[in-house]
Amino acid sequence: MKKITIVFTIVFLAFIVASFVSKSTITKEELGQQLFFDPILSRDSTISCASCHKPEFAFADTSAVSIGHGGARGKRNTPSSMNLILHENFFWDGRAKGLEEQALIPIENPVEMNLPIEEALERLNRNSKYNGRFKAVFNKRPDRASLAAALAAFERTLETSNSSFDEWKFSDDPAAISDRAKRGFHLFNTKANCVKCHFGADLTANEFRNIGLFNGKNLNDSGRIVVTGKAEDLGRFKTPSLRNVALTAPYMHNGILPTLKDVIEFYNDPGKLASQSINRDSLMIKPLQLTEQEKDDLLAFLNSLTDKRFLVHNK
Ligand code: HEC
Ligand code: HEC
Repeated sequence: MKKITIVFTIVFLAFIVASFVSKSTITKEELGQQLFFDPILSRDSTISCASCHKPEFAFADTSAVSIGHGGARGKRNTPSSMNLILHENFFWDGRAKGLEEQALIPIENPVEMNLPIEEALERLNRNSKYNGRFKAVFNKRPDRASLAAALAAFERTLETSNSSFDEWKFSDDPAAISDRAKRGFHLFNTKANCVKCHFGADLTANEFRNIGLFNGKNLNDSGRIVVTGKAEDLGRFKTPSLRNVALTAPYMHNGILPTLKDVIEFYNDPGKLASQSINRDSLMIKPLQLTEQEKDDLLAFLNSLTDKRFLVHNK
């Protein structure tokens, strides 16, 4: 073979290999990650999932209620989209059954991304970058199922279990957390009653409970009842995970409590803020009578739940 032919053949083969590698190395999770951070999925191409689920705040948001398309205010606080593998129901009222079902809802929601799914799919189909990536991952053009599957696959990678609390509890490192935090964990499990609703790997029982933030007046989000129609679900909301909770202020479905100190004060005496609440859980009737020291200890414990590799997820 002539030299020139050999060079050409090598270059050509390298090109084929490179294009094969670049196609086959993109995973479903990576595609989902690109979509999660891409405003292409919003009507005016300004809002991505990450505009509200901000990586630096454990994929939650700092505003009390979410701000979406054209500055529209939603009625609820943006929860963290991390540590959801063990969840069965999504949203504060649990109206979505799985991560795939959940993923397409914010795209169409008029106060979030406000883009009909059909239009979102047209955009992705017209976009040669995404078209190629969907072909590489799913062997088909972008459609509802593949869009939902990619976003959900990315969300499933957002598990965190590397907090100082984990090092103390599961890796037996006695020095990983302070004595204050250890006392706080003890209180969490005893006098403060927290463990009755927040337990398991992510400190959520995945139940719907009413901690007293519904009174039909200024607190008027009726929660789970809208999904089930059952009277006992009035004012009930999904018990959130407490992983990385120090990063996800403000707190509760309506973002009404600005800091973790406020959360502890609230639980210490729910009647103060929630005196006229309706259907409040029986665990939330009597004041806990925590001392200042005990409140501080609980706070130290909650602060120990932040994943140390956290910033690795930031993009
Ligand atoms: C405008 C802000 C905003 C945008 C954009 C947004 N979300 Fe959300 N997200 C929220 C709010 C607010 C909730 C809670 C709504 C509710 O409970 O009714 C939520 C809830 C969720 C949940 C449920 C978490 C749980 O604990 O049940 C997941 C998962 C999620 N969003 C993923 C996404 C994905 C994926 C996208 C992009 C396709 C996205 N979000 C775009 C604000 C936003
Ligand atoms: C009766 C069950 C129950 C008990 C007891 C309970 N929680 Fe909760 N917790 C919930 C529910 C449900 C929510 C969400 C409520 C809402 O938004 O209306 C919540 C929300 C929270 C939040 C806000 C998280 C976020 O992302 O907004 C924190 C922090 C918290 N709880 C910590 C605690 C601590 C600390 C204790 C003990 C002092 C405790 N909880 C006791 C059920 C409970």
